[in-house]
Amino acid sequence: MGAPMADRPLVFAGYAGSLRAGSYNQLLLRALAKAAPPNVRVEVMDIAQIPLYNMDQESTPPDAVTRVRESIRKADGLIIVTPEHNGTIPAVTKNVIEWASRPSDDSVLERKPAAILGASTGYYGTLRAQAALRQIATIEEIYFMVNPEIRVSRVAGKFDERGELTDDELRAELKEFLAAFAVWVRRFQV
Ligand SMILES: Cc1cc2nc3c(=O)[nH]c(=O)nc-3n(C[C@H](O)[C@H](O)[C@H](O)COP(=O)(O)O)c2cc1C
Repeated sequence: MGAPMADRPLVFAGYAGSLRAGSYNQLLLRALAKAAPPNVRVEVMDIAQIPLYNMDQESTPPDAVTRVRESIRKADGLIIVTPEHNGTIPAVTKNVIEWASRPSDDSVLERKPAAILGASTGYYGTLRAQAALRQIATIEEIYFMVNPEIRVSRVAGKFDERGELTDDELRAELKEFLAAFAVWVRRFQV
């Protein structure tokens, strides 16, 4: 007999919506993966080779797109770590959503439990970007976790020169976030 559903380890597929070397959001995603409890694994997806969405390529998407789509499909939950650009989500964050949602009869986002985090160098810590991202839930029926929220403001200085998180309070919040997301995800598995 297999492990009962409640004991099965969970896999969360995550991406950060920044291609920048040294991206704080990439570092935040890696810190989250390191903070995972034993029954959770956070898979950091590589989105660097994903081209701009093009409907002409939907039936034969580039390999990088297929890999990310299949990772999301197989995962118990999706984690989106988004920067904020000009008061909303950057194109890089949204581009992955475009590919993941198409073709429309094979969206890998539909009814997918998901969670949002974000880091910015500004005071509001991606408040507006996260709100904008939540709007997509109503179109794609993504089950975004409601609470807790992680909005890292004034992020410069929270990581050392090796990219390691230096803020112990934030590390504890990341652990709580994953524990809460595990509970959220299991709600949809009964
Ligand atoms: C085009 C552009 C627009 C930006 N707009 C905002 C913004 O609206 N709010 C904010 O808090 N930070 C803004 N920033 C600063 C980002 O928070 C900062 O560049 C951050 O490091 C981006 O995340 P990353 O390090 O993961 O690339 C903007 C940066 C760029 C390049």
